[in-house]
Amino acid sequence: MPNSWKTDVVYQIYPRSFADANGDGLGDLAGITSRVGYLKDLGIDAVWLSPFYPSALADGGYDVDDYRDVDPRIGTLEGFDEMCAALHAAGLKVIVDIVPNHSSNRHRWFQEALAAGPGSAARDRYIFRDGKGPNGDEPPTDWKANFGGSTWTRVPDGQWYFHLFAPEQPDWNWNHPDVHREFIDTIRFWSDRGVDGFRIDVAHGLAKDFTEPLPTAAELALIPAGPNHPFHDRDEVDDIYREWRRVFNEYDPPRFAVGEVWVEIPERRGRYAQPDSLGQAFNFDLLRANFSAGEFREIVAENLEVASVSGSSSTWVLSNHDVVRHASRYGLPLAAPGDGSFPPPTLKRDTAWLLTGGVNPPEDTALGLRRAKAATQFILGLPGSAYLYQGEELGLREVAQLDAAARQDPTFLRSEGADVGRDGCRVPLPWDDHGPSLGFGSGKPHLPQPEWFKGYAVAVEEADPASTLSFYKEALRLRSKLLQGVTDEDFAWLEAPDGVLAYARGTWQVWTNFTDVPVDLPDGAILLASSPVSGLLPRATTIWLSK
Ligand code: GLC
Repeated sequence: MPNSWKTDVVYQIYPRSFADANGDGLGDLAGITSRVGYLKDLGIDAVWLSPFYPSALADGGYDVDDYRDVDPRIGTLEGFDEMCAALHAAGLKVIVDIVPNHSSNRHRWFQEALAAGPGSAARDRYIFRDGKGPNGDEPPTDWKANFGGSTWTRVPDGQWYFHLFAPEQPDWNWNHPDVHREFIDTIRFWSDRGVDGFRIDVAHGLAKDFTEPLPTAAELALIPAGPNHPFHDRDEVDDIYREWRRVFNEYDPPRFAVGEVWVEIPERRGRYAQPDSLGQAFNFDLLRANFSAGEFREIVAENLEVASVSGSSSTWVLSNHDVVRHASRYGLPLAAPGDGSFPPPTLKRDTAWLLTGGVNPPEDTALGLRRAKAATQFILGLPGSAYLYQGEELGLREVAQLDAAARQDPTFLRSEGADVGRDGCRVPLPWDDHGPSLGFGSGKPHLPQPEWFKGYAVAVEEADPASTLSFYKEALRLRSKLLQGVTDEDFAWLEAPDGVLAYARGTWQVWTNFTDVPVDLPDGAILLASSPVSGLLPRATTIWLSK
């Protein structure tokens, strides 16, 4: 794998909410093409596109009808090629999302399975079972799906099919050779079109062992992820990714892949990142952490160790399309340390202030943004690759005030509102401070933008050298310059006061004050600061120094 992947800054685009070229209120590929100049200017290395495939949007596009086509509302294959060409011409790599744990219930093979009936070969590509109870009208197990409700849905002939997520997302049976072929074909299809890499959705979930007797939900909760769990992080996933790696390596340069791996034990996560496997795995530990020197230090040390053992590089993520934006998380009162439960405390959205539509949220927005910038500048200095989520470069925070009628996330719908879901981080970007959708497009945006978005519009921030956008651009420009002199091995913690973390990458030093009080400024020439510095290193601030 070319080394550049190991340090790239990847910018995640949620296509439906990035830019809308045809005015239908949904972002599209032509919208992305029209904003390539912005992406290039930002100073990132690659873009990752969340799904843009044909889909009923039961889960924001993660319910895929056809893995080798484009949703007509989002564009065409020709439009995809144009977008790819424009991104490549700007020097940016393109990563697409592969969703191999489940298809949508509209996929041709699921429709075939429904029509073919119980016991048919077509049903064996998915996970169908008879129910329990005298008439088979109880689901095979009492397990709960990730978006609420049962993991089993009954079809008219009486059988039940398994879905880790929504009923519109039936899980594939990865013991079936057709399923292997479908995804090899898909990887080849996009690689042949010039895609540079893949983000693998729910990478830890594909391999399943549903040998009877199946555990009850209570028993399942006690089985650790790993070889004894029926579906979470089983060892056989390794074989699937080794098969894919052989295909990735047929290309020149070899295609890159990063797994969405929600696996607590870093050593087990490291398997996915090995060079003969995907090559990189998301480390989501910072999504669960408070803005705390102790928590950050432990996470960094642990993940650098895993990266070196697995022969990969680490990844650093503060926001994505599934979690509360970090500018909001850091403005909330500190969460209790995680107890390992999922979702972890910092990711829970059912906090009172979000539920009440943020009428009186205990969110300190100024502090949240200040800490968010400091945390971003902290991770941008670390060895490895950083993943940014669209809008964080504008300092956007979560949109708490969304009417129930506007919400689209199955989490909200299936929990009957008990969990507000992920729409708050998926609101269309503000490009301008005026117009029907603040420059996103000419129509009404598919999720309403709040009034305060105007102040965070790209046009407003581009004109302001003190904006969050100007800060991100400067940080990314400097980062690529500073990285030229260092390798991943150049990393050493420095002595620092309590509540402050400091590390050196050769002559480049990164200092972050996680506390609420200023501390003495270390020696050296300041290259960049996340908040203005005068005489001391202020609270919640990161500086880069040259020594
Ligand atoms: C991943 C995606 C998330 C999606 C889920 C089911 O976690 O990031 O958005 O809902 O998989 O596909």
